[in-house]
Amino acid sequence: MMRRLLRPRVLCVSLLICSILLSYFPALISAAVVTLDSIEIFRTHEWLPSKPRVYFQCKGENATVLPDVKEKHVFYAFKGEESWQPLTELQDTKCKRCGLYEEDTFKSDDVFDEWELCASDFTESDGKYVHFKDRELNATFLCPDCVQLGSGANHSSKSNNGSNGMHWALIVIICASVSFVVVAGSVTAYKYWQKRKRQQEQARFLKLFEEGDDDIEDELGIGPLSHTV
Ligand SMILES: *[C@@H]1O[C@H](CO)[C@@H](O)[C@H](O)[C@H]1NC(C)=O
Ligand SMILES: *[C@@H]1O[C@H](CO)[C@@H](O)[C@H](O)[C@H]1NC(C)=O
Repeated sequence: MMRRLLRPRVLCVSLLICSILLSYFPALISAAVVTLDSIEIFRTHEWLPSKPRVYFQCKGENATVLPDVKEKHVFYAFKGEESWQPLTELQDTKCKRCGLYEEDTFKSDDVFDEWELCASDFTESDGKYVHFKDRELNATFLCPDCVQLGSGANHSSKSNNGSNGMHWALIVIICASVSFVVVAGSVTAYKYWQKRKRQQEQARFLKLFEEGDDDIEDELGIGPLSHTV
């Protein structure tokens, strides 16, 4: 009876724990920040000799203005901790359409270059990726976490599935372990409880039996053995 009641509850608890893990884990393991390591622009798009206002932007995200980049043919290096960093975050192996632009007051903004920024581009062990476009720019991006994210993608054409599969396998293993621990713990606790109850019942029964013995003796008027002799 008790066993039947217990099992669905254990199952519910396991499911609850799993769903909590599932909702948190993808965010924990797959967000990788991308910072700008260095940049050099080879031209500006202005007719007038004014200072350019260069910014980086991924589609659907806010623009990040690079406040220091004002001169062409100057190499700008960054620490990655500047107030405007990081540039963006990459989730999993999904690429983002990003670009470097120059703000324009009177017409639509000029484009240095626009391309697909992917975790799998960060192939070097230090997580660097150089993006070069002739007569426009040479920029290096840093994303140490991307190397791990993108590595699955480099080796096979089923790039997305490779890395996703890894994550899912990890989640399933963790879920299974947690469920196992919960179930094993519950079963042990239940067995212990059952044993305790049995012992208690046994003790109570013995006590009852002893008392009952006395009562019978009293009723029959037979005292302890010494009286009768
Ligand atoms: C974009 O900018 C707006 C206004 O500055 C801010 O409220 C919002 O959180 C920003 N979004 C992201 C994704 O940073
Ligand atoms: C672009 O910049 C990187 C980092 O400074 C440098 O190693 C690379 O040689 C440059 N590439 C070109 C084509 O200038």
